[in-house]
Amino acid sequence: MSLVTTKELLLDAQKNGYAVGAFNVENMEMVQAVVAAAEELHSPVIMQTTSGTIKYASVDYFYENVKVAAQNASVPVVMHLDHGNSFDIAMKAFRAGYTSIMIDGSAKSFEENIALTKSVVDACHAANIPVEAELGKVGGKEDDTIGGENDPYTNPKEAVEFVEKTGIDSLAVAIGTAHGVYKGVPKLDMDRLSEIRKLVSIPLVLHGTSGVPDGDVKECIKRGICKVNYATDLRIAFSKGVKEVLANDPTVFDPKKYNALGREYVKEYVMNKINVVGSANRA
Ligand code: 13P
Repeated sequence: MSLVTTKELLLDAQKNGYAVGAFNVENMEMVQAVVAAAEELHSPVIMQTTSGTIKYASVDYFYENVKVAAQNASVPVVMHLDHGNSFDIAMKAFRAGYTSIMIDGSAKSFEENIALTKSVVDACHAANIPVEAELGKVGGKEDDTIGGENDPYTNPKEAVEFVEKTGIDSLAVAIGTAHGVYKGVPKLDMDRLSEIRKLVSIPLVLHGTSGVPDGDVKECIKRGICKVNYATDLRIAFSKGVKEVLANDPTVFDPKKYNALGREYVKEYVMNKINVVGSANRA
């Protein structure tokens, strides 16, 4: 199949009460693992790269990897830019052929975030490429900072204005998740998520999902999340496989040998999460 966009995938997920997993990939083996997991479970899948990942090896390398995987796959595959942090990076990915773009202006003021996001939407929509954007800050904040002027979470009323003024296709919400490894169990603001869902009609996206209990993820999906992002745990799974092989036999020097177990562990992890988000047999 050719690469598809997130547009129809997320609207179908929204209509039918499931979510599509979006998995960050860092190398060819991780791309293979994600696609193999999706194929085995007949699930649509999103693969994504951050600005940091494409700085490491360029958009073209990742795009071509995922394009080949998609062409050989029996399920719909999306190539998504995760946390594009500038207009230039977004356009680089867009021109390379990415079929879904996130522009993250969440570190900027509300007005600047709108202006940046709108400029990316205008460019991408001309070619029917959907855009995800973020409002509020995903990242470890203490509960006592919630509410008032310093509230880092997505404000539901601002979300309405943000969606209207930018024309985005999906919105990443900040409700208490954080990227990376959690120190404790994250406490998510489910009421806020429901409030955003009530006011905003486009698909909502959950970031920072590694380490979030599966039950919470399912509850978020019930309350309107249609795309669920996993990155850290895939990196951990891959590294675990590589470390195991090398620890068992330090004389191994062939990357094919140690990468293969990393690939196997990533596949297992992704299959597990496809079942959690409910996208199995939706391809
Ligand atoms: P984690 O690394 O916490 O899984 O977050 C993934 C993510 O949200 C990528 O945008």
